[in-house]
Amino acid sequence: MKSSLLSRLELNRRRDLAFKHKHLLGIQGLTSSEIVSVLDTAESFYEVSTREVKKVPTLRGKTIINLFYEPSTRTRSSFELAAKRLSADIVNFNKQTSSVIKGESFKDTILNLEAMNPDAIIIRHSASGIPYFATTFCQHRIINAGDGSHEHPTQALLDAFTIRQEKKNFKDLKVIIVGDIIHSRVARSNIFLLNKMGAKVVLVGPPALLPVEFKNFGVEIDFNLDRAIQGADVVMMLRIQLERQAANFFPSIREYRNLYSLTEKRFRKAKKNAIIMHPGPINRGVEISTDMADSAKSVILKQVENGIAVRMAVLYLLLGGKKREAID
Ligand code: CP
Repeated sequence: MKSSLLSRLELNRRRDLAFKHKHLLGIQGLTSSEIVSVLDTAESFYEVSTREVKKVPTLRGKTIINLFYEPSTRTRSSFELAAKRLSADIVNFNKQTSSVIKGESFKDTILNLEAMNPDAIIIRHSASGIPYFATTFCQHRIINAGDGSHEHPTQALLDAFTIRQEKKNFKDLKVIIVGDIIHSRVARSNIFLLNKMGAKVVLVGPPALLPVEFKNFGVEIDFNLDRAIQGADVVMMLRIQLERQAANFFPSIREYRNLYSLTEKRFRKAKKNAIIMHPGPINRGVEISTDMADSAKSVILKQVENGIAVRMAVLYLLLGGKKREAID
């Protein structure tokens, strides 16, 4: 056996030991070394998607259910591709064509899917805490693909993977997260992760979308984007989540755009080598101008690409165990 393969197997064995969870429910429950373990594992899977045959046998025989109660383009597709590239079988559950429409409850839905003996269920739902609830009666592994305004752990992990790719490490980076913070599970998961990794996080948005209580998460808050963006290394823009707004949180889109949209003029105040991130979907011309979304500084599509490697890593670390050598 070649020495490089031996050292890779040893590294993978250490990563397996470093990640000891049955479920992935949120970033809050992970340590910084577990986060690094996911990112390192994702790095080893990244290359699989560049091969002509984009498949390894690592999770052959495993069955995964993608249970999405909310719409998704990126998360659902990349979990599906991640599972397929690891040779797992995956079933996509679509709420609109399921018996949920006939009134079947969430619990009964899970119990019925569980009766089919999957190895993991990936859940996206509009209710915060639903993946945690599922673990109270479901025997199988649960992966949170976004629950209400609570957490979106794999999004934060793929964001971290992208930041590490671009900036090498997190220590002392100034990361500003801009927009609809109150409704954003992406913001929460990123706050937890970036804090654990030593970055400086500044939240920016209008007061109605950025409650001062967020300071309790150990971040700075600023209602003025023109001030906060100065010296930023990473500018992470968020979508206004109209679907989660029961009240009008700001007077008009026009006013929001004037104060909080990322334009070329504003971005010039960030560091020269700053990057632009956005979890998607983007509202062009609202939180970000088309020029900025498509600029050379934007890593928005890299985030999407990296989502596959990160989700392969998560599936592997939860389901693969000691069969890791199968990817080599
Ligand atoms: N970033 C994200 O969660 O996108 P989708 O809603 O398309 O999955």
